[in-house]
Amino acid sequence: MRILVTGASGPLGRAVVAEFDALGVEALTLRGRGDPAPGTRVASFRDPDALARAFDGVDAVLLVFPIEPDMARMAVDAVDAARRAGVRHLVRIGAIHGDAHAPYALLREHGRIDRIVVEGGVPWTLLHTAGLMQRWTTRLAAQVRAGTVASTEPDAGRPWVDVRDVAAAAATVLADPSPHAGRVHRITGPEVLSVRAFAGIVGAAIGRPLRVERVTPEAALAALLAQGVPPERAALLASLARASADGLTAPVEPSTRRLILRPQIDARTFARDYAPVWGGEAARSCGGAQSRSNTMSLAPSHSTSTPIGRSCSRPSTIVRKWLPASGPIFDANEHEP
Ligand SMILES: NC(=O)c1ccc[n+]([C@@H]2O[C@H](COP(=O)([O-])OP(=O)(O)OC[C@H]3O[C@@H](n4cnc5c(N)ncnc54)[C@H](OP(=O)(O)O)[C@@H]3O)[C@@H](O)[C@H]2O)c1
Repeated sequence: MRILVTGASGPLGRAVVAEFDALGVEALTLRGRGDPAPGTRVASFRDPDALARAFDGVDAVLLVFPIEPDMARMAVDAVDAARRAGVRHLVRIGAIHGDAHAPYALLREHGRIDRIVVEGGVPWTLLHTAGLMQRWTTRLAAQVRAGTVASTEPDAGRPWVDVRDVAAAAATVLADPSPHAGRVHRITGPEVLSVRAFAGIVGAAIGRPLRVERVTPEAALAALLAQGVPPERAALLASLARASADGLTAPVEPSTRRLILRPQIDARTFARDYAPVWGGEAARSCGGAQSRSNTMSLAPSHSTSTPIGRSCSRPSTIVRKWLPASGPIFDANEHEP
């Protein structure tokens, strides 16, 4: 099985590559730019012919698309290139609540991409992923260091997942895709936590309490624009702030643990592992976890998860109207080959 990981320089792709290293699974990586290197192919998602060449001789591809206004167009070209190159299985990392009819732009794009993959003629598996804990070490890191974290809904619970768990799930599927063909797996963390509860855990890990400040979705968009994020991309990212303000959430998915074949990483372990990113001390001992600094490398040991707190506010009217009463939003069985 020859596997190629796309988006391999981003947080998700890097974690998958690290997980593969830990499992002894060999994988090629795809870079969107730069020079080819041993084990790395270079092709832009915006260049279908280069993609087809990059997919040549590959059995399975992990699709991780960057958040860009043309991400659905990239998906069309990538799936087309995979089919032409004879790729036998596509595993796509999408988002929980990804839905072509979602009232939030980024979730709509994710839904459109899911359809493109499902209808693309190559056997597929979708991994619908919850919000990553690593948001606290990337977009929120500066706020944590400054002592105040902004959120459009500090009290809505979310099933944050550690990217290392997402990587482990992807590794399981890619190592043996056929049992997962035509299936959508939801990947969540082991507990539902509000931003306020999460901030408490991070604050405890670094020995400094954090303030949590409620901001409007408009302020979240303005902050992205002020950071120089191009307007269309900023609008995609800010649509998640709107979803959060509307109370969009999801429950813990117990099947994640079965897919990753080990205990899941909980928020306390995550916060101890990444404390140096926020100016805290690395954990010397936390259920066996080692200090890892701000890398995506996978230490083999993780503490078992203990629920820390639950806070799940009631979704707003817009979310209640859009979400079905129960069951998945995107029904994989509709698309069984
Ligand atoms: N963060 C979350 O909480 C979360 C939760 C669920 C799902 N997701 C989804 O995960 C995906 C993003 O993952 P991420 O944060 O790891 O990615 P990211 O930081 O957006 O990284 C983008 C990756 O895409 C590659 N890339 C960019 N433009 C490209 C192009 N034109 N052609 C080929 N490759 C290109 C980059 O590689 P080069 O540098 O080599 O170009 C990089 O490796 C998104 O679809 C996001 O919605 C995220």
